[in-house]
Amino acid sequence: MLRKFVAVTALCLISVATAVSAAGFGEEREHTMEKIGGAMATLGKVAKGQADYNADAVKGALTTINAEIKHFKTLFPAGSENDSKEASPAIWGNKADFDAHADKLAADAEALLAQLPADQAGVGAAMGVLGKDCGACHQAYRLKK
Ligand code: HEC
Repeated sequence: MLRKFVAVTALCLISVATAVSAAGFGEEREHTMEKIGGAMATLGKVAKGQADYNADAVKGALTTINAEIKHFKTLFPAGSENDSKEASPAIWGNKADFDAHADKLAADAEALLAQLPADQAGVGAAMGVLGKDCGACHQAYRLKK
């Protein structure tokens, strides 16, 4: 009887531990970056003329990038080094610099929101600015799978 109870308790503990480590911060990091990638894709369609310029859509995409990159930088607390395969260990050794890359993208998106790109060419120019921020951070802190 007691032995059975112990075995069941142990099983429960194992499943709790698995659930916690599977959740971690990895999924949230991917999910957040996917939203940012989606917003860039929306801007990309306008820049390439695959979608008509629409001020609300451009504003929405820039708002998403601004909000999600601020959230993203909170997903790397100490102890979460192994939660995702694409996050470089360098993040935890250079957290201030990593955060500065995030802040730069947030600030550039904010500046663009304050002076919204007004046409297809403007959206193309905005993508050039934002794209450099993506690339700079990825080069330093994103590992290839
Ligand atoms: C502050 C640094 C930083 C900035 C700025 C940044 N990224 Fe990322 N990005 C990362 C890291 C780190 C990962 C790996 C995330 C992980 O742990 O899975 C990543 C992963 C991604 C992924 C893959 C998500 C997945 O499904 O695994 C996409 C797409 C992406 N970034 C798009 C962008 C775009 C577009 C921009 C610019 C608008 C951008 N990122 C700006 C750090 C950054």
